Amino acid sequence: MKLLEPLDVNGMRLPNRVIVPAMVTRLSGEDGYVNGDIIDRYARYAEGHVGLIVVEATAIHRSKSGPLLRLSEDAFVPGHRELVKRVHDASDSKVVPQIIHFMKIARSGWRQTIEMLDQADIDAIIADFGTAAARAREAGYDGVELHSAHAYTLSSFLSRHNKRRDAYTGKTLEGRLKMFGQVMTEVRRQVGHDWPVGVRFLAEEAIKDGYALPDSKRIALRMAQMGADYISLSVGGKFEDAVPKPGHPVYPYTGYSGDRCMPGAWYPDLPHAHLAAGIKQYINAKGYDVPVVSIGKINDPREAETLLREGKADLIGMARQLLADPDWPRKVAEGRPDEILHCIYCNVCKQLDENFKKVTCFLWPKNNLQAPADLAGTAHPTWPAAGAGLGADIIDGQIKLTWNRADGDGIIGYDVYRAEDGEPETDCIEAVKSAKYTDRLVLGGLTYRYYVRAFDAQGRASPPSNGITVEMPMPDFEPSLPDGAIEHA
Ligand SMILES: Cc1cc2nc3c(=O)[nH]c(=O)nc-3n(C[C@H](O)[C@H](O)[C@H](O)COP(=O)(O)O)c2cc1C
Repeated sequence: MKLLEPLDVNGMRLPNRVIVPAMVTRLSGEDGYVNGDIIDRYARYAEGHVGLIVVEATAIHRSKSGPLLRLSEDAFVPGHRELVKRVHDASDSKVVPQIIHFMKIARSGWRQTIEMLDQADIDAIIADFGTAAARAREAGYDGVELHSAHAYTLSSFLSRHNKRRDAYTGKTLEGRLKMFGQVMTEVRRQVGHDWPVGVRFLAEEAIKDGYALPDSKRIALRMAQMGADYISLSVGGKFEDAVPKPGHPVYPYTGYSGDRCMPGAWYPDLPHAHLAAGIKQYINAKGYDVPVVSIGKINDPREAETLLREGKADLIGMARQLLADPDWPRKVAEGRPDEILHCIYCNVCKQLDENFKKVTCFLWPKNNLQAPADLAGTAHPTWPAAGAGLGADIIDGQIKLTWNRADGDGIIGYDVYRAEDGEPETDCIEAVKSAKYTDRLVLGGLTYRYYVRAFDAQGRASPPSNGITVEMPMPDFEPSLPDGAIEHA
């Protein structure tokens, strides 16, 4: 599988094409030091053989902002060194921190914007990026990633909402790119060219009058020209459309662009794959083969493999899926894809982050701070002697499914599979914790076939339940026939 092939990134040999993009854990204290829980979180990804582990956004400056890691002083280096050691001891996974600068923000709703920065402020930010990157190298990281996405400082310079009218003017693409260029130059000056420097930026801002692919493919080209060693993409996550909550600092993932950044269960799979594909095609055509990371609701190994094979991405980024099950790459490599605990995109992790609470996964056993261990080879859940007893009722335009609880230790939920109107393939449409599910996305006149599978905390599933087929009655109206259909008397 291409997914399992190694990739060389400026001397950093990734053992496979799977990357966990940065995800704030809220496991650090307000002091910003690496602690045991943080180390356990990242070592767990290494145990699962994630090719590249990107450590959560790590501040380069001293402003307070709740629990967030820091690399703003030398005193933080030993903790990071310990983290890197634990990751490297666990497997051949590679690990880089994502370094971030963000501006001030107040509970009153006030927030600092890039238009308020004078040249001395800008110079200080550039210098801070350089020294933080140098500290990352000193700590033994395999490289560093510059956070140039979402609502933060570098991204705000790249934005179409950049209202500066000096050398960093938002009126031209070159003006918008100037700050990133200066940061990249300073980072290279401090860490050299023989060490990977990746970047994360927005393929689409997903706000009114924000930029989209026509800008982002050119931004990516310049990043490649400036020597970025990989380009990781994201979407949205902006202040411009954030929903204010009185008495709280505004959180940039509460509006539509926040939905696009962490698309929930109601989005289709792979909503952003076309953006990575467009950017990769553009920069490749200009002669740059800088690896491009695709992200956004990717969790099926077959879909991930297809993206790589069709040349739509070089690396597969999975944030919430790898949080749910860090053993995903190992299970794929060992031919156990059926044992993957699938993310249900419920966004409980996102809500925990928003409320500065320790980020865990809803699917883990209650009170677990880390993903449960992979217990390969132990018994899978089974159905009771009476069978699964899957049944269905049509009530008020919805199909209500109920079934018997499965047998086995540590059962934490049930995957619901559905095929519409005789489709040969079933899709897993939902994962639920109790033995019932109501399907509200059904259309009168169509036929639905269902089965369910129980799963435990290790992602091991029971055999499929009995199948059940439900015909949804057409509501009371005169349907017009599809084009070409002949009405028989
Ligand atoms: C709890 C949480 C924290 C996140 N923190 C960061 C972060 O520190 N830096 C970043 O660039 N993206 C962050 N993201 C965005 C993810 O890296 C990723 O782009 C997003 O979840 C979409 O990918 P997915 O569909 O695979 O989850 C975070 C997402 C979540 C759910």
